[in-house]
Amino acid sequence: MIIKKLSLLNFKNHPEKKFDFSPQINCFVGNNGAGKTNILDALHYLSVGKSFLGNTDLNNIRSEEDFFAIEAEVENEDGEDIIKILQPKEAKKVIKKNDKSYNRMADHIGYLPSVMISPYDSNLISDSGESRRKFLDSMISQTNSEYLFDLIQYQKIVQQRNALLKYFAKNRTWDKDSLEIYDDPITRFGTKIFEKRKKFVEQLNPIVQNFYSIISGGKESVSVIYESHLLEGFDSDQPDKKFKDLLKESLERDRMLTYTSKGIHKDDLLFEMDHVLIKKIGSQGQQKSFLISLKLAQMSLVKELTHKTPILLLDDIFDKLDDHRVSQLIELVNQENFGQIFITDTHKERTESVVKKINEESIIFEI
Ligand SMILES: Nc1ncnc2c1ncn2[C@@H]1O[C@H](COP(=O)(O)OP(=O)(O)O)[C@@H](O)[C@H]1O
Ligand SMILES: [Mg+2]
Repeated sequence: MIIKKLSLLNFKNHPEKKFDFSPQINCFVGNNGAGKTNILDALHYLSVGKSFLGNTDLNNIRSEEDFFAIEAEVENEDGEDIIKILQPKEAKKVIKKNDKSYNRMADHIGYLPSVMISPYDSNLISDSGESRRKFLDSMISQTNSEYLFDLIQYQKIVQQRNALLKYFAKNRTWDKDSLEIYDDPITRFGTKIFEKRKKFVEQLNPIVQNFYSIISGGKESVSVIYESHLLEGFDSDQPDKKFKDLLKESLERDRMLTYTSKGIHKDDLLFEMDHVLIKKIGSQGQQKSFLISLKLAQMSLVKELTHKTPILLLDDIFDKLDDHRVSQLIELVNQENFGQIFITDTHKERTESVVKKINEESIIFEI
């Protein structure tokens, strides 16, 4: 997938901006605060319909304005599409492909896959499981349109079950039968999600390991391990059984806690180095190498599963990585035939010299 043109209106600090992109490498250089990351964020919007930085949509409307609009001309295998995102201050966000609105936001996910490598990646190691779950979900969603739909359903039903548990506690009542109405749909959607996550991580792990050994050159070995309440004793011949049993077993506890304590909403990814959490023993350099390996593996697996080459968004990596890692990264990106790349940096000369090493067409935009 190639983004040929991009135009921004009132998006964050950009009143109006238009770009004609190179199909290969595009660099945004400029001072801190110039709005470089914001441009990558706009590209991220085109990919998954929301901000990479976790801002609410309304916060991305330029101060004092009434809307933002992002428009892009995208080249796919069969031709070109116009993707538009419009966020008015007073109405719902709209995403359109060729002037036709999507019924569900989830239907757009996966159209234009993307991978971001940014200084915020280290949060994946240090944060709670929620951010790793979100990362896993966003990777799988880009490869499987049903996944996000199932996940949204699952989350809704768990919320309803939790609300009922809280209602019981508040009103000092208990009605097991009405609670068990949720068992079926929770189990059905939850098990589907579990199986997809399990399979995805099994595919991802060896790719991460391979990139890590190339990048680090070290003897240590890393692993990405899927952790879930459903793993132990899961029987693929009766896939729904495990989750059903879990809900039954934890019924009394859920009643006391007033929320659903077991399920795939508690899943996590363990990032390990020599069988210990990287968070605990990895040096900063090892953690950085791991994160790049993880993102490159994401790129490679999404490409394999979707037969689309994701766009690669590299935010401030020259600042945060030493020269050695940057050149390895560039080399790998070159070797792997990655697609269109967008890079931000504060130093024009540095960007020029790195880009020169890559044997591809590039454009540098001064922001
Ligand atoms: N909704 C908004 N309206 C106006 N300016 C904004 C908005 N959101 C962010 N900004 C501005 O964008 C700037 C940061 O842009 P950013 O892309 O992070 O810069 P860079 O990556 O070039 O350092 C900040 O000055 C911030 O105030
Ligand atoms: Mg920035």
